Amino acid sequence: MRELLKQYSDLPILESERLILKPLSLKFLSEKYVSWMNDEEVIRYLESGGNYTKAKLEHYLSEVEMNPKYFWAIVVKESGEHIGNIKIDPIDPIHQHGEYGIMIGDRNAWGKGIAREASSLVIDFCFMELNLRKINLGLLATNSAAIKLYEKLGFEQEAYFKAHVDHKGEFVDTLRMAIFNTAIK
Ligand SMILES: CC(C)(COP(=O)(O)OP(=O)(O)OC[C@H]1O[C@@H](n2cnc3c(N)ncnc32)[C@H](O)[C@@H]1OP(=O)(O)O)[C@@H](O)C(=O)NCCC(=O)NCCS
Repeated sequence: MRELLKQYSDLPILESERLILKPLSLKFLSEKYVSWMNDEEVIRYLESGGNYTKAKLEHYLSEVEMNPKYFWAIVVKESGEHIGNIKIDPIDPIHQHGEYGIMIGDRNAWGKGIAREASSLVIDFCFMELNLRKINLGLLATNSAAIKLYEKLGFEQEAYFKAHVDHKGEFVDTLRMAIFNTAIK
């Protein structure tokens, strides 16, 4: 596996046909981003979010800047608009796998293949540049849009946990899914 990020400024910018992924930083602090974190539809299946303020987001983004992570803002090339975030964090350098997460905060961007395009970029980067062996993720079993997305990307279910987490006052099932780097035996 490649040596991991030492400083945030070393995180590369990734580009696909419609998207540019830029290191997430305080530059992306905005009222729009705060509104995603308070949007019931966006945060329905997420642990984070709700009662968000600009000050809380500012604190979060400064923490992100101070602790180098593989964490990008998803920006639409044509409009320059920030529409969500994607990350591989944490990465385990011993076992050579990383934990994936995505949020398209701008609901107008849903259903247009944006998550799929951004995810493919990040998966290719992890497998081809970082030489990660495996990418893992966890999600609520009720998040069917996300399950469909991950299946289309090639993730497979590895585990199912019944009534595993207290999510907004209810014990719900969770899944673990993963995709392997087929170039590494
Ligand atoms: C889940 C999420 C990332 C999907 O983003 P998106 O950009 O709308 O997804 P895409 O348009 O790239 O869709 C990719 C595939 O996922 C599936 N999918 C996406 N949204 C779906 C929905 N609402 N219902 C059913 N399937 C859906 C489709 O099968 C689609 O493939 P297709 O276009 O070939 O049919 C987005 O809804 C989101 O950020 N939600 C809030 C945060 C969240 O739940 N993140 C995941 C946490 S585990």
